[in-house]
Parts: sequence; structure tokens; C-alpha cells
Amino acid sequence: MARILITSALPYINGVKHLGNLVGSMLPSDTYARYMRQRGHEVLAICATDEHGTPAELAAAKAGKPVAEYCAEMWAVQKKLGEGFRLSFDWFGRSSSKQNHHLTQHLAGKLWEAGLIEERMERQVYSKADGRFLPDRYIEGTCPNCGYERARGDQCEHCTKQLDPTDLINPRSAISGSTDLEVRETKHLYLRQSQMRQKLEDWIETKTDWPILTTSIAKKWLRDGDGLQDRGITRDLDWGIPVRRGEDDWPGMEGKVFYVWFDAPIEYIGSTAEWAEGTGQPDAAWERWWRTERGAADVRYVQFMAKDNIPFHTLSFPVTIMGSGEDWKLVDFIKGFNWLTYDGGKFSTSQGRGVFMDDALDILPSDYWRWWLLSNAPEGSDSDFTWESFQTGVNKDLADVLGNFVSRVTKFCRSKFSEAVPEGGAPGALEAELAAELDKRIAAYNAAMEAIDIRRSANELRAIWVAGNEYLQKAAPWTAFKTDPDAAAVSTRVGLNLIRLYAILSRPFVPDASDAMFEALGLPADTENDWPASAEAALSALPPGHAFTVPEVLFAKITDDARDVMAARFAGDS
Ligand code: 2FM
Ligand code: ZN
Repeated sequence: MARILITSALPYINGVKHLGNLVGSMLPSDTYARYMRQRGHEVLAICATDEHGTPAELAAAKAGKPVAEYCAEMWAVQKKLGEGFRLSFDWFGRSSSKQNHHLTQHLAGKLWEAGLIEERMERQVYSKADGRFLPDRYIEGTCPNCGYERARGDQCEHCTKQLDPTDLINPRSAISGSTDLEVRETKHLYLRQSQMRQKLEDWIETKTDWPILTTSIAKKWLRDGDGLQDRGITRDLDWGIPVRRGEDDWPGMEGKVFYVWFDAPIEYIGSTAEWAEGTGQPDAAWERWWRTERGAADVRYVQFMAKDNIPFHTLSFPVTIMGSGEDWKLVDFIKGFNWLTYDGGKFSTSQGRGVFMDDALDILPSDYWRWWLLSNAPEGSDSDFTWESFQTGVNKDLADVLGNFVSRVTKFCRSKFSEAVPEGGAPGALEAELAAELDKRIAAYNAAMEAIDIRRSANELRAIWVAGNEYLQKAAPWTAFKTDPDAAAVSTRVGLNLIRLYAILSRPFVPDASDAMFEALGLPADTENDWPASAEAALSALPPGHAFTVPEVLFAKITDDARDVMAARFAGDS
């Protein structure tokens, strides 16, 4: 039994996330966590909201709420939506937790002692009208690179160039619109990432099993040098983690907070500490996941994230962790994702374009979304959500193949035998052929899940469903029943056992359907742990006489009309 720590990139607090955010880290991390738990490993799956920084402050201002109140509310909303999608995190924390405050200040102190933090006097834009400095998104202006007039102080949305507020042409305050701005000197802290270049390079060289997407982005940033510039890790904001060195004040840094990208990944640790406290355990319980000298040396740590997060997780966070000189656990495997697009374009919160997590659950049960998103996960390249593709995935895979199988077998058995596994007959050549096919497919499915190839896993799972349907077509118990009732009993018995097998194997992808199948078969949910070692044994797990009920339709088909209505509803304003 292995110990596996799984973290999903932390969703920003500002607003409900869309399907692209969901499939870019949270959902696949859940599928992997479920699989590993079912295989009997000790799993800890961690996520949290990312609550600091200007996006949180601006969203709170827009909602007309104090930022702390806004964050508390949005955390509850996001947690509930996650539960609606059956995300099985062991803890969904908050980067504003006291644990994260403590850890972030502690690590900053260690980095300072190690000489990896430098104090610098910096020239920053100050707004007299607002009485404050204007970091990042608090300032807007014309992009010096492409001329876009609404570029933000941290980045131009149009050409994606990373900017400093002082780079902008014709700058104005995003709060008041005031152009009465001046540049003032103020002290800030810089993480001296460049000092760690060699160490990072050596470390990444050892990661030969990482996906190409991950290592190519990491290496590009290392090579270009751009990514490994020393990084400002403090901001002139009210909301955030106050700058301290461990327990001590930091002279000259009064009123400043750490930059959101400094404290956010530390919350992976913070959220684990929240979990320990929240479940009534001592510190040792979370430390055995994170401190190599306290048990974490044998942990396998896997991170899930979208590709824009990769530089922070391959470079900046490791600098924090390694640079502290303490025994923190480093990531073992990073699973990165490309983008999910919506009908050929971007999801857009401001234009209401695309499907967001709350709307999705209003329309259809979570399994429908989970299946489509996972079986079309943007792994090798970007993938595109279209209503046609969604309709096809749901109708063909879920309704026609899996749902129909369950319905046919249970209804046939009820009408010709009884609501119990029939007895009589003995397995023959067809059953041996099915078992051989399943053994091969299950091995392929396991291998794909171990490698975290989500789409490949979905394809293998689908092939396992198809194998059952093909078997049933060949065995045709409805015909055999008239001439050879024993043969019909065998294939019906095998069919019912296949439902049990599907409930187990499909659970990482469609947990609600799995529940419904277990319930129909009168099996306890912990049957999920009976991962099949051999198909032959799995196909006779339910003995003759075992009672079942015919479940409700597992998956309803999406009609063309319903599809068109949904497509129109989410097309966006423009
Ligand atoms: O890109 C994002 O959505 C960030 N909120 C991810 C943070 S991941 C981690 F470092 F906290
Ligand atoms: Zn630009």
C-alpha cells in the first residue's frame, strides 16, 4: 500500500468556476484520488480557495462587500459546487486560514535566514485620489507592446505580455479612474529565484517521467531566464497575509502583505494542516504528509493543474520549499492540462459565455458532465466543448452503452427469472472469451490510470462497457431462453455480475451511477474496494439467489431540442 498526496490547483475565490477550470485540475484530481483509494492506497486529496490578491479585492468591491465576508461566502459556494460534482477532497480549505498565515510567515523567515529574500527599494505607482499604491490590476493603461488600451498592471490580456504597472502608457486607477498618479519609492521583498537556477535545473533533469507539457514549460522558463528572474513577493494591499519573518515583525514592511502567488501554493500545506485540525488530529497527522523526516519520505506527491500554473509549481514553489532548508516534501509528479475552449472560443465570465459549475448542475446531473469532461480532457492538446459532442458522448456512451446494458439485464432477469441472480448452467466458451477480453482491458485501464492518462483511461473504460454489450448480443439470453434456459441463466448471471464490475470500475468517472448500480444490486458502497484481480472471479462474485431490484433509468438521452435550448442559453451576450 502506497501513500499518495494529491493536490489540485486552488481555484481563485472570485466567482463560480467554469467547466474549463473544473477539468483543468479539480475533476481529474478527484478521479485519480478515487481510483487510488479504490486500489487500497492511503490517499489524501487536498484543495482550497485561493483568496488573496487584487482579483479577490476587486470582486468583493464589485459585490459591495467587505473582502473577508465576500471570501467566506464564495468559499461556501465553491465548496458546495465541488460537492455537487462529487469532488472527493479530504479537505477543501482556504488560503486565508490561520494555518496558511503561520506557514507563509514561517517560510518567509527561513528564506530570509538563507539569504534568498532581498529587500529592494522600488518605484511604484501611487494614486493621490485613492490614497494608496496601485499594484497589479489596480491600474490600467495602454499596453506598450500591442497598444491595447485596457491592459492591466500585471499583464496585457490582449497580447499576454507580463507587465509592471510602471510600463503602462497613460495609466489610470482601476478603482477611481483617476490619472493623478505619481511614482513613489517603497520597500518590497524579492525572492532570489535566480540563486536556485542550478538546483532547479538538476531537480527537473531527474523528472524523466513527467509529461512533456510540464517539463517543456519548466525548461523554457529556466532557459529563457525570464521565468527565473527574482520575483517581488510583497504587495501594498490590505487583504492578504501580513509580511512577517516567522513570529517577528519585518521592519519597514508594515502594512504590506505577501503576494498571492507566494502564499497560494503554501496553502497546499496549510490546507493539510486545516484538515488535521478539522478532523481532530494532532500536527503529526499532517506533518507525516509534508515533512520528510516525519514520515513523508515515502509519500508520492502528485499535483494537478492547468498549463498556466506550471511555472509557479516547477520553479517558484520549489524555490520556496527547497530554499527554506527544511525537510519539506517536494512534488513527485506534475500533471498539467491544456485549455478547454467553448464552442471554438474562450469561456468568458464577463460575457456569460460558456457553462459554469452552478448552471451545469442546474441542467443535468454531475455524472453527465464528469463523463464528457474526463473523456475529452485537454491532455495532449486543447479540446473544445460543443453541445453536439456533449450530446453524443452522453447519449452514446452513457445512455446507449452503460445505461442500456444495466436496464436490459435487470429487466430481462426480472421478467424471465425473478429479481434474484438465476441459477443453473455452467460458463462456457463465450464466457471464457469475455473473461479474457476483460482481463486485457482491465489491465489496460489500470495502466492508463496509473499513468494518469485520463482520456486513455476513459477509452478503456468505455471498451469494458462495450465488451459486456457485445457478449450479451452474442449470448442473446432472450433467444436462448426458449430453447436452452440454462444457457440463458448463465448469461443473465454473468450480466448481473458485469453490472457489479461496472459499478466498481466506473466509480472514478461516474460515482453517482456507480452508487445506483450498487444500490440496485443490494451491495454496500465499500464493494468499491473489490477491484478485480481476475475477470473470471469477478464474473461469479454474485452467487445465484442474490436479490436485486431494477434501477431507475441511469442516464436519460439529451434530445436535439434540449441541446439547442442549452446552446442558445450559454452562447453569451455577443
Ligand atoms: O490559476 C489559478 O487559478 C490559481 N488560483 C492557481 C493557484 S494554484 C496554487 F498555487 F495555489
Ligand atoms: Zn498587449
